[in-house]
Amino acid sequence: MELAGKATLITGGGSGIGAATARYMAARGASVALAGIPVSGVDAVAAEIAAAGGKAIAIETDVTNESEIEAAVARTVDAFGRLDAVVANAGVQRHKTDIDLFSMTEVEWERTQDVNLRGVFRTCKHGLAQMIEQGGGGSIVIVSSITALNGRTPNVSYMTAKSGLLGLNRHIAVHYAKHGIRCNAVCPGALEQTPDWGDHPDPDGREQAMVGSTPLGRLGTSEDIAPWIAFLIADEAGFATGGTFVVDGGITIS
Ligand SMILES: NC(=O)c1ccc[n+]([C@@H]2O[C@H](COP(=O)([O-])OP(=O)(O)OC[C@H]3O[C@@H](n4cnc5c(N)ncnc54)[C@H](O)[C@@H]3O)[C@@H](O)[C@H]2O)c1
Repeated sequence: MELAGKATLITGGGSGIGAATARYMAARGASVALAGIPVSGVDAVAAEIAAAGGKAIAIETDVTNESEIEAAVARTVDAFGRLDAVVANAGVQRHKTDIDLFSMTEVEWERTQDVNLRGVFRTCKHGLAQMIEQGGGGSIVIVSSITALNGRTPNVSYMTAKSGLLGLNRHIAVHYAKHGIRCNAVCPGALEQTPDWGDHPDPDGREQAMVGSTPLGRLGTSEDIAPWIAFLIADEAGFATGGTFVVDGGITIS
């Protein structure tokens, strides 16, 4: 997989899929900028990668704030000379408040959209602007979810945002291909518990239900997802754009 020297900005890089992708890519020669909050998370992952001999920087970035994203792109270019790839990964799932239409206020609805949909829009917009300005193409990977592909989840604002990302993915793929920029979406299935599972009224019951409905009989890990994201950035994926890549142990088709 040709990743050497790829300057890659990863939002939500301080934990989970973002951190695993950063580690995977840095170990193969990519330069990674970890943008996210809390800053302690991105600092720790960047320090770990640097200690292992990789190239990484941490940038405190809240994806709900457009000027912070613009600044994160600029910092990445300052550090690595250009921007080859963006992984729009930061996201939240609110198991307490995002459970059905009638128990949710518009404010709650918007809190999820602001990170999961508009945050990705802002990230793609500023990443694209830099790629177009510098020339030479680029690759964007949007982290959606299998909740964009079925109606089972009770988290209605979350699944609506993740579905919207698939439209954004198609738009970018079609309209920016002329600049040599590719865009693809990855839809992970149910992964091992992340901190936001603590919000769930019955995290262990949820885990059992997810494992039970996954044909491969286990939850996924962030490390199961990272190589797919890295591949979509690598030169070998040069003919893939506008695709939706499902990595879910078979739950969607079962
Ligand atoms: N874990 C799963 O089962 C699963 C399944 C499908 C899709 N996803 C998606 O994968 C992506 C990564 O999630 P994860 O599983 O690694 O969980 P995670 O909670 O470890 O990662 C999300 C990261 O985003 C950061 N973040 C949250 N709000 C932010 C903001 N406003 N600005 C910047 N950073 C912010 C968090 O601090 C965290 O580091 C998310 O978009 C999530 O929706 C996860």
